[in-house]
Amino acid sequence: MTVGLPPITTQHNRSRGGSNSSSPTYDNVLVGVRCRPLFPESDKTHELAWQLNPLQQSIQLANNNSNSRRYPTSHVNLQTEYHYDRVYYESSNEQVYQDMVLPLIQQTMDGYNATVFTYGQTASGKTHTMMGTDLEPGIIPQAVNEVFNCIKQSKNNEFLLRVSYLEIYNETIRDLLAPENDNLKIYEDPHRGTYVGQATEKVVTNPHEVMDTILCGETNRHISTTDYNLHSSRSHTLFQMVIESRQSGNTPLYKSHSPRAKASVKISQLNLIDLAGSEKAASNQDRRKEGAYINKSLLTLGTVIAKLTEPGKSAGHVPYRDSKLTRLLQSSLSGSARVVVICTISPTIFTVDESINTLKFASRVKKIVLRAKNEPIADDKTLLQQYKSEIDELKKKLQVANDGRAQEQQNNETMLSHERQQVTHTMAPPQPIST
Ligand SMILES: Nc1ncnc2c1ncn2[C@@H]1O[C@H](COP(=O)(O)OP(=O)(O)OP(=O)(O)O)[C@@H](O)[C@H]1O
Ligand SMILES: [Mg+2]
Repeated sequence: MTVGLPPITTQHNRSRGGSNSSSPTYDNVLVGVRCRPLFPESDKTHELAWQLNPLQQSIQLANNNSNSRRYPTSHVNLQTEYHYDRVYYESSNEQVYQDMVLPLIQQTMDGYNATVFTYGQTASGKTHTMMGTDLEPGIIPQAVNEVFNCIKQSKNNEFLLRVSYLEIYNETIRDLLAPENDNLKIYEDPHRGTYVGQATEKVVTNPHEVMDTILCGETNRHISTTDYNLHSSRSHTLFQMVIESRQSGNTPLYKSHSPRAKASVKISQLNLIDLAGSEKAASNQDRRKEGAYINKSLLTLGTVIAKLTEPGKSAGHVPYRDSKLTRLLQSSLSGSARVVVICTISPTIFTVDESINTLKFASRVKKIVLRAKNEPIADDKTLLQQYKSEIDELKKKLQVANDGRAQEQQNNETMLSHERQQVTHTMAPPQPIST
C-alpha cells in the first residue's frame, strides 16, 4: 500500500518561454506500474514474483530462492531495480486515480489536452484499472465525475462537453456508439491534431448520461474469453471527451463577433484508452488472428516510443503511420498533451518475461518530453462558437421576421383606416327610428 506518500512532483511548471499561462510547459510522461493481486486458483502459485518498494517507488524481482531458480536468466539482470513515479500493489482503483489522474483532469478543465492509457500483457488488470467495477470504479467513471464536479464549482466559465467512444479492432476503427460506422478514417488538423472523422459525438450534460453512453458502447465492444482471460479485450478502446470552455460575462457572448471574444474559447481533449494486451498465441483461430493484430500494433507502439526516446539525436522519421493506434496517439506522444501511462503486470513467476518487457516499456515511455499548451483558440469550428453563432443567426432571423410582421400589421392598420374613412363618406348618416 502506498499510504501517506507525498504528492507526485512533476515538472509541469518548467515553462521555457515566458510566464504566460498559455506558453508550453515541459514535462515527462507520468508513469505508474501496478502489479495485480495474486489469484492462487488461476495463477497456480502463492508466490509473488516481484518485490515492490512504495517508498522508493521501485520494483524488482523478489530474490527468494524458490522463485529465483525458475527465472529466465538469459536476458534478465536479476538485480535490476526499476523506478517510476508510482508503484502499486494491493492498491485500490481510487488510490491509483487520485495519485495519477486527478491532477490531470483538473489541467484538462483548464484547456490542456490529456491522454491516459493502460499498457500490459493480457489479464494483468488494464480494463480493471481503466473501467473497474460497480464496487470499485476505475479511472473512466472517476474522471467523468471529476469533470462535472469541476464544472459545478466553476463560477465564471461556461462549458460544452461531447463524448465519443471508439475501438480499434483488427486494424479498423469502429464507432462503438454507431456500430454501422465500422471503418472510420484518421485525419489531421492544426488544432485537434490527429482525430477520427465521422465519429459520433454526443453532447452530454451530466455524469449519468456519459456512463449510459459508455455502457451502450460497451455492448458493441469486442470482448471474448481467451486462454488467459475470461473477459479479454480484443480491441483497443478510446473514450474521448472534448471540453470547450469560455469565460461567461454579463454581455451575452453571441452578440460579439470580435476576434477577441472568439479567441476566448479553450478546447481540450481528454483521451482515456484501454489497450488490448499482448499475448502468446491463442488456441482459437479467431483469437489468434486478433492477437496477431494486437501484438503488431503494440510492437509499433514500442518502436515509436523507442524512436522518440533514442538518446542523443532528434527522432527523425517516427513510424506513427504503421498502426492505427500509433497514428491516433501521434499528437499525444509527439508532445501536445499531458500523458499518464499505467503499466500493469501480473504477479506470477510464469509471466516474468512479459512483465520485464512491460517494465522496459514503462521506463522508455517515461523519457518522452511533452510540451502541452492551453492556448485559447479563435475557431468557428468550436461547438460553443457554432452554437453562439447559430443563436445569433436565429435571433437575427427572428428580428427580421418580427420587423416584417410589425410592418405588415402597420400596413393592414393603414389600409383598414382608409377603408373605414371611405365607408363613412359613402354611407348616409343613420336616421333615428320614428314610430
Ligand atoms: N488490481 C486488481 N484488483 C482486483 N482484481 C483485479 C485487479 N486487476 C485485475 N483484476 C482482475 O483480473 C482479471 C483480469 O483483469 P483485466 O480484464 O482488467 O485484464 P486486462 O489487462 O484488461 O486483460 P486483456 O488484455 O485480456 O483485456 C479480471 O477478472 C479483473 O477483475
Ligand atoms: Mg482488457
